[in-house]
Amino acid sequence: MAKYRSIVVLTGAGISAESGIPTFRGADGLWEGHRIEDVATPEAFARNPRLVHQFYNMRRAALKTVEPNPAHKALARLEQAFDGEMLIVTQNVDDLHERAGSKNVLHMHGELRKAWCLGCDGRTRWEEDIHETSRCPHCAREGRLRPDIVWFGEIPYQMDRIDEALSGCDLFVSIGTSGNVYPAAGFVALVRHFGRAHTVELNLDPSECSRMFHETRHGPASQLVPAFVEEVLGP
Ligand code: OAD
Repeated sequence: MAKYRSIVVLTGAGISAESGIPTFRGADGLWEGHRIEDVATPEAFARNPRLVHQFYNMRRAALKTVEPNPAHKALARLEQAFDGEMLIVTQNVDDLHERAGSKNVLHMHGELRKAWCLGCDGRTRWEEDIHETSRCPHCAREGRLRPDIVWFGEIPYQMDRIDEALSGCDLFVSIGTSGNVYPAAGFVALVRHFGRAHTVELNLDPSECSRMFHETRHGPASQLVPAFVEEVLGP
């Protein structure tokens, strides 16, 4: 337990896979039957807001049917029992870390359960569907809401805070991410550059970045993460 003072955990779609949320890079290269450029870019939203809203409305509705799995719960337990700093940086837009009990969670790619008003820049917690005519509760304008999701071509949230955490951590753990999407895919290289932290990958199979880690373990997150957390917390 005394071994580490500051932990950063990066999570990706793989940690939520066993809760029933599909990962992104299926064998057919499609994302739930859509091309990324049709549903996950600002241009797609400008071209066809209805399709983009439909896509995220379905994904938001699906959150009501899933629950955190043992991997999310183990990270919440780690945060609670650990007496140093711990930050979860997640690429996931689901809320399973929070529902498992984690408090210090940074959603670098946004959150499905939030709407962002392009009229007033306000953000609102949003559980139901967003439509082209939905009204912003802050400014009361209609038709300016979009899902609060970072799309391709946009800058992920809170990069300064992430850089600071990465530079100061002494344990970096990457869970359930394929290492295809930057800047998250570059975090392990950045941490290695600072030279202070032990780096561990926990993933179903080797990711694009596996060789960068001091230690890699391959298998389902629901098994690997609880076992790893027990090791970190010690007897
Ligand atoms: P990917 O779908 O690219 O990768 C998921 C990773 O999880 C793969 O390496 C799988 O092998 C692994 N995996 C699958 N099931 C697992 C399990 N049960 N236990 C452990 N690992 C498992 O998802 P991400 O890397 O999260 O961005 O994708 C990164 C970003 O690309 C996403 O945040 C999203 C997407 O485009 C935006 O929406 C901006």
